[in-house]
Amino acid sequence: MPEKKFYLTTPIYYVNARPHIGHAYSTIAADVIARRHRLLGDDTFFLTGTDEHGQKVERSAAAAGIPPLQFADQVSATFRALWDRMGITYDDYIRTTEPRHTEAVQKLFQLLLDRDKIYLSSYTGQYSIGEEMFVDGPPGTIGPDGKPTETVTEENYFFRLSAYQLPLIDLIESEDPENRLLIQPESSRNEVLSFLRGNVAEATDRGDVLELSALGKAYVPGALKDLSISRTSFKWGIPVPGNEKHVIYVWLDALANYMTAIGYGSNDPVQQEKFQRYWPADLHLVGKEITRFHCVYWPAFLLAAGIPTPRSVVANGWLLFDDSKMSKSKGNVVRTETILDAFGTEVYKKQFPDSTKKEQDLFAADVLRYFLLREIPFGQDGSFSFDAMITRYNADLANGYGNLVSRTLSMIEKYFEGLIPEGIVDPELGQRLEASVVLGSQNFHAYGFSNLLEILMASIKAIDVYITFHAPWKLAAVGDEKSNADLRDTLHTAFESIRILTVLLYPILPSATAKVWAQLGLGDIEVAAQNGELQNLEWGGLKPGTKLGPLAPIFPRADKGLAQIMVDMENPSSTPQKPEHPKPSKFVDETTTHTSAAPSDPTDPGAAPRTSSLVETAPGMTVGGSYASSTARPETPSHTEARASGVFANAAAQSDIPDTPQIVIDDFVKIDLRVAQIVVAERIPKADKLLRLEVDLGYEKRQILSGIAEWYTPEELLGKKIVVIANLAPRKMRGLESHGMLLAASHGDDGKPVLATFGEEIAVGSRLK
Ligand code: MSP
Repeated sequence: MPEKKFYLTTPIYYVNARPHIGHAYSTIAADVIARRHRLLGDDTFFLTGTDEHGQKVERSAAAAGIPPLQFADQVSATFRALWDRMGITYDDYIRTTEPRHTEAVQKLFQLLLDRDKIYLSSYTGQYSIGEEMFVDGPPGTIGPDGKPTETVTEENYFFRLSAYQLPLIDLIESEDPENRLLIQPESSRNEVLSFLRGNVAEATDRGDVLELSALGKAYVPGALKDLSISRTSFKWGIPVPGNEKHVIYVWLDALANYMTAIGYGSNDPVQQEKFQRYWPADLHLVGKEITRFHCVYWPAFLLAAGIPTPRSVVANGWLLFDDSKMSKSKGNVVRTETILDAFGTEVYKKQFPDSTKKEQDLFAADVLRYFLLREIPFGQDGSFSFDAMITRYNADLANGYGNLVSRTLSMIEKYFEGLIPEGIVDPELGQRLEASVVLGSQNFHAYGFSNLLEILMASIKAIDVYITFHAPWKLAAVGDEKSNADLRDTLHTAFESIRILTVLLYPILPSATAKVWAQLGLGDIEVAAQNGELQNLEWGGLKPGTKLGPLAPIFPRADKGLAQIMVDMENPSSTPQKPEHPKPSKFVDETTTHTSAAPSDPTDPGAAPRTSSLVETAPGMTVGGSYASSTARPETPSHTEARASGVFANAAAQSDIPDTPQIVIDDFVKIDLRVAQIVVAERIPKADKLLRLEVDLGYEKRQILSGIAEWYTPEELLGKKIVVIANLAPRKMRGLESHGMLLAASHGDDGKPVLATFGEEIAVGSRLK
């Protein structure tokens, strides 16, 4: 077994959303790093998986009308199938609902209890459902997910996080590579450190006493508060050992996956040995919004448990679409499947009609890997667009790398019957490539993928220029001894350069480089990687006389029209002529929530866990209503960067088809539908779509905010008797409470809500049953 081990992880993905390319981005980066470490000969372990507990998942499952585990099973399988489709080389796939995980998490909790790091107390605060965390602020505070928080009072177990302020600062500030938590990029490290240090400037102004870390940096003592780490308000989680009305805080549960997957808490000696071998993790790759969990809570739990802390946490930026983070709740996601299907069939299959689906998928996965890593400097945010992807593909892969391979190898085929000629490497190009190797490995090490690829593409251009300058076709035409020697040197140099570039590109383009490797006559690149043969990046590593493999194009050119095809795949409603693209998902998520078990009133601002900003930013979409799907959107994307509504909106578009799960009468009686009379109706300043209503329920008056301002004037609503879901929990919107929801049907192409009213006289407060 190799001396050096490398254990890396992706975040485990929430199962309340289907995967989109934002998720694929983290996983791709991890796969690239894992492949690079494997080829360097490290004993590499790459973990990914799904995060399946918590209120979000419980609610999504309830909305879909199925038990949470069944819901989690479906979505987790979708993630896994996608990673398999993309050829992701994870070594294990952990699900937090697996017994190996739940049992070990309970052990960890018990250990923390035994060590007096946890105590029981009660707490009232603002809880962000989306981010599964308490946040500071008054009721109605907008949480980090952009949605109003809920007031939660709970008897909770608390973790003594406050005791770890200085140890954590010291751990992160430490300059000892063997004994520190390295956080990259610098911006994330600074963010974590300033959170840990507290507001030093304000404390200084107030004249408070500051303390100094081991490195002599000031911090505000007491800035870090104890952390609530159990919940009683919902059930879907791992029970606290010995007090089962509590479930363990989902972040403690989730973070522990990094240890439970490799055997922490297991009684099996094989698992225990695995844990000894791989822990601590060398790299947790995370999105930038979850660094605090990984760099504050996680190392604090470990310090408290007496377990070594991870060596590094590296944060990637966000993929943006239309300038905002691609995310399910905004509905602006691009599905990875769209890219795999489009590039796989429209580019690869067109060139190779007999290719298998697997070959097409792996080809397309390489294109996505390349694009994301080249386009966006790792750690920063970057915009995604289909046009940019096609342009980049054609320029760098089809016309760049692919063309270089094809012209070089076809000349070796033509002039040397496919046998690699012996020759002398051009010293200038040789030096350039040597520099690329050094810079390449530095950039791999520093996660500078975009730089790395820029350097490699510049080298490809230099080799092209070199070939054109030496004009092998002219040398071959002359045919004297000197020209023949030049011809051999030129093609030998070009071949060697390609070999070296291919090794450097392998972690990023595993499928394409495997084909190039075979065409170079060097065999199976995976085997070469496993045998450590790809570590040799020196000139002359090639055996002259090697016979080329069969030649074929590696990167067929992509037509510009492909961008529109991808847009159409994301918005099938805009292209009714292509019903086969793609199948609407059966999956029910936030957007479709109200089409199934949950009430589906488009007039209720609190119906879906959406933000108030959505009301204003997404024309054609009203608050919370599944009727407000992409079909309702007035504009069809006119150009390829217009918008990606994602499959969620598509699924919602199908909501008229009555395929919602059946419910029993007991489910129905849980909904308290009442006749209510509108007694006050008014517009809300700066909220074009919202009306503030006061309704009389007979037994009480209520305030309800409703997203119907586009369709109803306040005047025409006054006095109307309507139907209200009376027992819906109150929610805050724009600082105002909305208690209840109006019932309306969705009408016509624009999904106009039509309020349910009565044709006969009816007393307010009457129950509908
Ligand atoms: N379940 C938690 C992580 C627990 S780890 C112990 C979680 N899940 S998530 O599904 O919401 O996000 C998982 C990862 O996907 C995060 O790193 C997040 O940053 C990443 N991405 C989700 N959308 C993204 C983009 N639009 N762009 C880039 N990455 C994004 O958080």
